[in-house]
Amino acid sequence: MSSEDGADFIVAANRLPVDLERLPDGSQRWKHSPGGLVSALEPFLRSHSGAWVGWPGVPDVDVEEFTEDGLRLHPVSLTADEVRDYYEGFSNATLWPLYHDVVASPVFDRGWWDSYVKVNHRFAEACAKVAAQGATVWIQDYQLQLAPAILRELRPDLRIGFFLHIPFPPTELFMQLPWRAEIVRGLLGADLIGFHRPGGAQNFLWLARRLLGLEPTRGAVGVRTRPGVIQLGDRAVRVGAFPISIDSAGLDALSRKRETVARTQQIRADLGNPKKVILGVDRLDYTKGIDVRLYALQELLAEGRVDPTEVAMVQLATPSRERVEHYQRMRGDIEQVVSRINGEFGRVGRPIVHYLHQSIGRAELSAFFSAADVMLVTPLRDGMNLVCKEYVACRHDLGGALVLSEFAGAAAELTSAFLVNPHDLDGVKNAMHAALTIDPAEGRRRMRALRRQVLTHDVDRWARSFLDALDPEHAH
Ligand code: ADP
Ligand code: F6P
Repeated sequence: MSSEDGADFIVAANRLPVDLERLPDGSQRWKHSPGGLVSALEPFLRSHSGAWVGWPGVPDVDVEEFTEDGLRLHPVSLTADEVRDYYEGFSNATLWPLYHDVVASPVFDRGWWDSYVKVNHRFAEACAKVAAQGATVWIQDYQLQLAPAILRELRPDLRIGFFLHIPFPPTELFMQLPWRAEIVRGLLGADLIGFHRPGGAQNFLWLARRLLGLEPTRGAVGVRTRPGVIQLGDRAVRVGAFPISIDSAGLDALSRKRETVARTQQIRADLGNPKKVILGVDRLDYTKGIDVRLYALQELLAEGRVDPTEVAMVQLATPSRERVEHYQRMRGDIEQVVSRINGEFGRVGRPIVHYLHQSIGRAELSAFFSAADVMLVTPLRDGMNLVCKEYVACRHDLGGALVLSEFAGAAAELTSAFLVNPHDLDGVKNAMHAALTIDPAEGRRRMRALRRQVLTHDVDRWARSFLDALDPEHAH
């Protein structure tokens, strides 16, 4: 809903749900943005007619506010230098690795920080301009951690929520950040700060005490219940755990469509109708452990535990953050293992690994999920991971087996998956082997349990539980 002079409900995220794409002939078009945040929030926001404040995905463009399929989009411009320093630099070469257990070394650069501060001001100002009196503004993710406090200064009348879509790190790692107190202060501008897991909320409460001398409540935080509370003058900031999810019913319905079923059969035929199809679907990110699963497959083939004539693996990898050095290095490494596996174990017309460095549409993706006997989700660290939930939502036939990293937030919910430690290659190999050879009745039992969780805990429930906690008087 929106009143005449402003919107009553606003989502602010680094990216709009659509990215502007410049085509070689000079024309432009909008395409779906990558990543879990957009996958999760877009269906919810469309059904609640809100406004979305975000960057259109390319530097140096000034786009007027526009409406797309009923959703009001408010573009925030970034210059090429800001894309380099705020987005690729501070967001994705400092915060991203720091918050993901330093699986790559974070870079601390003062110029990048200055840009992060400046861009957070711009986002907060855009929200202040778009919001109606007393509106709710829901700020998303690590790129915008200063925006809550800046927005509160500008517009004390607003109700402000913040949700972090990636892990919140152990306190020892967060303490490395030269601007640690500023980040905590920035987040405390919100009325409710949400994390995926209770551990993240607990870490934040500890940091508020340690860095700012505040006195948070001491009880353990629960999932969707018992938030921690930090009293700041006459304002109470609540801190809680809200595990995100997907549009489970929508994907379930899509996977049942006749066209999807036909496409699923076609995909298996295109792969040569192997006995087993293995699948990986990720943004091409070094946190996702794509190399881990490839090394595991390579060893299983080399040891003769997996017969190369009986399997095909598909790895779909969305291009991501391609100018950031760690991403470039990782892409080279992954592409090398893929060609090694194919070189050693493939035949003419029958590679083992089908690697696509491309993003595909939702219907096509659901056909791939339905075609996969074994789904590999092996991140070294992941806030939640939506891909594993999407796979489960597509398996109304109760077929398929999920191998899932213990270090994905989803592992706490999807306990009937084959849970693995991605640092333990033998463990990953054993889990892959077990998933490939599972007894069908046992497979159905596991998938039934996984589906019960995913279908009853969807993105709508996540959003409603967060917004109800943010504004208890207006249940959503
Ligand atoms: P992240 O937010 O880190 O990218 P998630 O697993 O939470 O990770 O979300 C990724 C989202 O992107 C999912 O909705 C998934 O379906 C989608 N996705 C990932 N790879 C592809 C691909 N190659 N083509 C289309 N969608 C993809
Ligand atoms: O969920 C994590 C996340 O980083 C989102 O904030 C982001 O929109 C998405 O993944 C994709 O990353 P990027 O926007 O850097 O392409």
